[in-house]
Amino acid sequence: MTDSFGIGFVSAGFITRESHAPSVGYLPDVHVAGIQNRTRENAESLADTCREEGWGDPSVYGEDAVADLVADPDVDGLWVTSPNFTRVDVVEAAVEALEDGAELQGIALEKPVARNLREANRIVDLVEGADLPHAYLENWPHEPDIDKLRTLLWEQGRGAGRPYIARSQAEHGGPHSGWFWDGRKQGGGALTDMLCHALAGNDFLLSDPNGGDDLEPVSVSADTETIKWQQDDYADQLEADFGIDFRSNPVDDYARTTVRYEDEDGRTVVSEATGSWCYVGSGVRRTIELLGPEYSGQVLSDDESSSVFFSDELGEGEGWAEKQTATSGRMPIAAADVVTAGFVAENRDAVAAFRAGENGTLDLSDGVRILRLCMAAYKAAEDGADVDLRDADLEGYTPPPARE
Ligand SMILES: NC(=O)c1ccc[n+]([C@@H]2O[C@H](COP(=O)([O-])OP(=O)(O)OC[C@H]3O[C@@H](n4cnc5c(N)ncnc54)[C@H](OP(=O)(O)O)[C@@H]3O)[C@@H](O)[C@H]2O)c1
Repeated sequence: MTDSFGIGFVSAGFITRESHAPSVGYLPDVHVAGIQNRTRENAESLADTCREEGWGDPSVYGEDAVADLVADPDVDGLWVTSPNFTRVDVVEAAVEALEDGAELQGIALEKPVARNLREANRIVDLVEGADLPHAYLENWPHEPDIDKLRTLLWEQGRGAGRPYIARSQAEHGGPHSGWFWDGRKQGGGALTDMLCHALAGNDFLLSDPNGGDDLEPVSVSADTETIKWQQDDYADQLEADFGIDFRSNPVDDYARTTVRYEDEDGRTVVSEATGSWCYVGSGVRRTIELLGPEYSGQVLSDDESSSVFFSDELGEGEGWAEKQTATSGRMPIAAADVVTAGFVAENRDAVAAFRAGENGTLDLSDGVRILRLCMAAYKAAEDGADVDLRDADLEGYTPPPARE
C-alpha cells in the first residue's frame, strides 16, 4: 500500500474546481492536501466540496500564502493552476520556500507555462535550479481517445509510412473570467488560450509513440484576427461583464497557424491548427485529425458522440457543460469528462513520475516548445511572413495583444 500523495493547488478557479480536484476521485492513492487562493472563501468552498466528495480534507491558505502551502507537510506536489500572469511569482515563492527547508516531490503547471518565453525560461531555471521534478499540464495528449488514435494509426500504418498531416480545431464562445480577455494579463488571445491546445495535440499525434523520432519544427505561418468581440454589442457585453475595454485593447478571438516540420529524412510534415472564441454551440468544439499515406483518423467534439435535446420550454437552467452557451437545444452529456478529457490520466502520470523522482511524460520543456510555436505564430501574423524556427530569436518577443 502506497502512502497517499497530497496535491496542493495554487488557485481555486474553474480548472481546479471542475477538472483537477474531481480527477482525484479517480486516483485512489491521491488526495487534495491544500488549496491556496487570493480569495480565501473560494478556497474554503472548494475545500468543503473536497470533503463532501471524499477527495481529501485540505488545509486552506489565503492571498500571498504560496510559501505556507509549500511548507505544509501534507503537500507532496504543487499544482499551479493560477492565471498566466501569476506564474513567475508563484514559482519564485515556491522555490524560496524550498530554500527555507520545505520539501516537495514535484511541481506541475497548467497550460500555458507563462505569457512569453522570458517568463517560461525563468520558471524552468528556477525549477531545475531547485532540482525539482516537473510536469506540464496539457490535457489533450492525455485524452484516452487522442492517445488511442495516435497508437492505432502509428502501429497499424507504420508499414505505409509515418503520419504527415495533423489538423486540429479548438473553439468555444469565449472565456469565463475577465483576465483572459486582457492580453497583458493572459499573454495573448485565442491563440495562447485555445490554439495552444491544438498545437500541442498535433505535436503529440505527429510524434512516434515508440520514441526516437526526430521531428524538427522548421517554419510557421499564421493569421490572427479579432472577428466577433470587437463588434459594438459584444464589446459592450465584455465591459458590462468584466469591466474590459475591448475596443481600446482588443486581442485575437481567432487564430490560424500552419507549422511545417521536417522528419529525419528531410520530408515535410504539417501541423494545421485553428483556435477561436467565436464558436456558439453546445460547449467546446473540437475536431482533431491525423492523416498518413494509407490511413486517417479523427476525434470529434463530445457533443457529437453523446448528447441530449431539450425544447425551449425547458430553458432557463444554469447548464453543466464547459462553455455551454444555452440551456435548450442539443447539449453534450459530458459524463465523467475529467476522464474523457484527459485530466485523470495527466494527473496520474504526474503523480507517478514525481513519486519516482522523475519528470512527467510531458514536462516544462514540452510546455516551452509549444509556447515557442505560439510566439512564432504571433510574430508570423504580425509580420505577414513565415517565421523560420531554426534561427528565430523569440526570447524577447511579446505578442501585440500583450504589449503595454
Ligand atoms: N487545460 C484546460 O483545458 C484548461 C481549461 C481552463 C483553464 N486552463 C488554464 O488554467 C489556468 C486557470 O484558468 P481558470 O479557468 O481556472 O481561471 P479562473 O476560473 O479565472 O480562476 C482564476 C483563479 O485565479 C485566482 N486569481 C485571479 N486573479 C488573481 C490574481 N491577480 N492573483 C492571484 N490569483 C488570482 C482566482 O481567485 P479568486 O477566487 O480570488 O477570484 C481564481 O481562483 C489558466 O492558465 C488557463 O489557461 C486550462
